[in-house]
Amino acid sequence: FRPKVLSGRRVLVTAGPTFEPIDPVRGLTNRSSGKMGFALARAAQQAGADVRLIAGPVALATPWGVDRVDVETAQQMHDAVMQSVADYDVFISVAAVADWRVAQVSDHKIKKTAAQAVPSFSFIENPDILATVARLPNAPYCVGFAAESDDLETNGEQKRIKKNVPLLIGNLGPATFGRDENEVVLFDASGATRLPRATKDELAGKLIAEIARRLPDASLI
Ligand code: C5P
Repeated sequence: FRPKVLSGRRVLVTAGPTFEPIDPVRGLTNRSSGKMGFALARAAQQAGADVRLIAGPVALATPWGVDRVDVETAQQMHDAVMQSVADYDVFISVAAVADWRVAQVSDHKIKKTAAQAVPSFSFIENPDILATVARLPNAPYCVGFAAESDDLETNGEQKRIKKNVPLLIGNLGPATFGRDENEVVLFDASGATRLPRATKDELAGKLIAEIARRLPDASLI
C-alpha cells in the first residue's frame, strides 16, 4: 500500500544523459543511466500523479502508466520540456544534461587521414533547462538534482539558490552513476536533511513523499 500523495497532480520528469553529436556516427555523452529519474517517474505514477517522462538515450523500460517522450540532445530535451511544462504542477529535473555541444556538427563522418591533423572542436553552451523553467512566470514546483564531487553541504545549497528552486537533491559521492543504490541530501529553505543510503527505488518513494508534502496546497488534496 502506498498513499496516493500525488493524486490530481501532474508531474514532468527529465532523466538520463543527453547525446550531443559530433558527426553522423560520433558524439559526446555521459555516464547517467537514467535509473534515478525512471524510479522517480514510477514512484510519482504509483503515488497517483499523471506523469510525463522526457528521457535521453537510456536502456530502460518505460514505467507502467507513464507517458514517455524520447529525445537525444539537450536542445531537444529543452524543447520537449518547454512544450509540456505549462500543463504540469511539478518539474523534477533529474537528467544529466550536457553543458556544452559541438558548435559545428559535421554532416559527414570526419575521416582519419595521415595528412590531416587531429580534429579540434569548439563548443557552445546548452540551455539550462531547470533554470529556464524555474524562471517562468507560472513555474511549476521545481526540484533539481546535483552530483557534486566535493563539499556537497555548501555547494548543494548554493546550487539551490543559483537555480532558484525550492528543493534541490544532492547525490552524495560521485559513484552514483549507473548504480542501483544512492545516498542523498535534501536542501530546502529550512536547511539540509540527509536520507539513509537505499536503493534508487526505495529512495524514489521517499523523495516523492518529501516532494508531495512541500507542494503548495499539499493539505488540500
Ligand atoms: O549545474 P548542474 O548541471 O550541476 O545542475 C544540475 C541540475 O540542473 C539537475 O537538476 C539537471 O537536471 C539540471 N540541468 C538542466 N539543464 C542543464 C544543466 C543542468 O536542466 N543544461
